Amino acid sequence: MAVERTLSIIKPDATNRNLTGKINAKFEEAGLRIVAQKRIHLTKAQAGVFYAVHKERPFYDELCEFMASAPVVVQVLEGEGAIAKNRDVMGATNPADAAPGTIRAEFAESVGENSVHGSDAPETAAVEIAYFFSGLELVG
Ligand code: CMP
Repeated sequence: MAVERTLSIIKPDATNRNLTGKINAKFEEAGLRIVAQKRIHLTKAQAGVFYAVHKERPFYDELCEFMASAPVVVQVLEGEGAIAKNRDVMGATNPADAAPGTIRAEFAESVGENSVHGSDAPETAAVEIAYFFSGLELVG
């Protein structure tokens, strides 16, 4: 399987509860390497650009408000099959559906406040990584 990179975001509900380290441990235990990471506070407009694919959805405004409500940790995870592996580690979008042991099963509060985001495909991973990181920040 190919080595991939994927964009991960630890969301405001998780940073508010000081869960960055526990969530990072889940990634590392699964064999994902955190090759870039920074804590930032998004504006609502910046969150809106990131989630533009969802702009027609009824939850878009609420999602952007939430993502701008407190700091997030944006990170690049690297590993074999990292995109699918990260989605396995995160669990289903709705924590009620997330498998036991996944990040969302253990930590997420609701479908909206679900602790983490992860890219869903190689094309989106490339766009999402480039939104937050320059090539110089990706040290492998
Ligand atoms: P994420 O993986 O970051 O991608 C889009 C986000 O929209 C998703 O996680 C959820 O946080 C949010 N989302 C999806 N469905 C709903 C919903 N029904 N209500 C509120 N937020 C949602």
